[in-house]
Amino acid sequence: MNAAPGIHARPARALPAEGDNGLYSQTWYPVCLGEELTADTIVGREFLGGRVIAFRDAHGEACVTSAFCAHLGVDLQCAALVDGLVRCPYHHFYYDGRGKAVKIGNGETPPQAARLYRYPTVEKYGVVFAFNGDEPLFDVPSFSLPDDQIAYHAFKTPMHFTVDPWVIISQTPDLNHTQFLHGPEFAPQFEIPEMQFTDYSGHYSVDEDLYFDASGVFKELHANVYGTNIVQLETIINNMWTGGTASLVALGPNSCEAYGINAVKKADVPEQTPEAYQQVLDGLKAMNMQVMSEDQSVYQNIRFVQGTLLEVDRELARYFDYLRRYPRANPGREFINGDGKP
Ligand code: FES
Ligand SMILES: [Fe+2]
Repeated sequence: MNAAPGIHARPARALPAEGDNGLYSQTWYPVCLGEELTADTIVGREFLGGRVIAFRDAHGEACVTSAFCAHLGVDLQCAALVDGLVRCPYHHFYYDGRGKAVKIGNGETPPQAARLYRYPTVEKYGVVFAFNGDEPLFDVPSFSLPDDQIAYHAFKTPMHFTVDPWVIISQTPDLNHTQFLHGPEFAPQFEIPEMQFTDYSGHYSVDEDLYFDASGVFKELHANVYGTNIVQLETIINNMWTGGTASLVALGPNSCEAYGINAVKKADVPEQTPEAYQQVLDGLKAMNMQVMSEDQSVYQNIRFVQGTLLEVDRELARYFDYLRRYPRANPGREFINGDGKP
């Protein structure tokens, strides 16, 4: 006999899972660090349930394509990079940065169909991002300060998260969790700010002081969510403008990794030397890693649903609505073998 609806029914609503029907959020995913792509390196990575490679083409531009050779499917992570062309070791098909086979070892003209899937690719602040779509729906996020006014540092975290990226990003509209999971209490006057959403982003700002970390007072917190996997924060810590971006790549369903970018306004660092900038950036990274490890601790065996929400969760509920509207696709699916096809 089924339980009658009422107090025995759990009031929970499912949220869209990455990889459902083979589809993933259409957003910019970090694939590797720019510094990993030397003139002769091909990086192979799990990506959206399949595999991609990243490399630099003949112009030095970072490129991300599907990983499997169009001839017989060799994983091109083991290919050679020859003058900016990816050369498959098996029969020497050569691919350019667009993923097109441009020549073959035996001199034959490559068939039209011999191509890799090429993701729109952008290298920004030291991270190589690929967009899950034939054309990007929005730009890779920038900080509000121009590049020449900031010092920045990118890194890949060693952490693997067993949830979808959007679960981790839900901590941004869920400001309430910070005082419990991360410790320091909010300033007494603090109120959860209203979030403004567009089709592909969400934003809120806190103008007053926000006691967030024992090492300093956060002021003027500006938080931006992009897609379902990127959060960018700009704030003043100890009178220094700082920026921080966390971006997550969906390796497959319930599986993601994180990249971080930290930035500081050069003019705000008392001693304006590269070493002094790096010291500030190292401190910011250490703080981010601490926060992320606290975040990771709650994901063990989590079954993330929209359950019984509180008044304080109203912006979180709006983020869930944004997630439900968010576009999903997987145009490279057959090329990356995201579903074992073809
Ligand atoms: S499998 Fe790559 S060239 Fe034959
Ligand atoms: Fe958190």
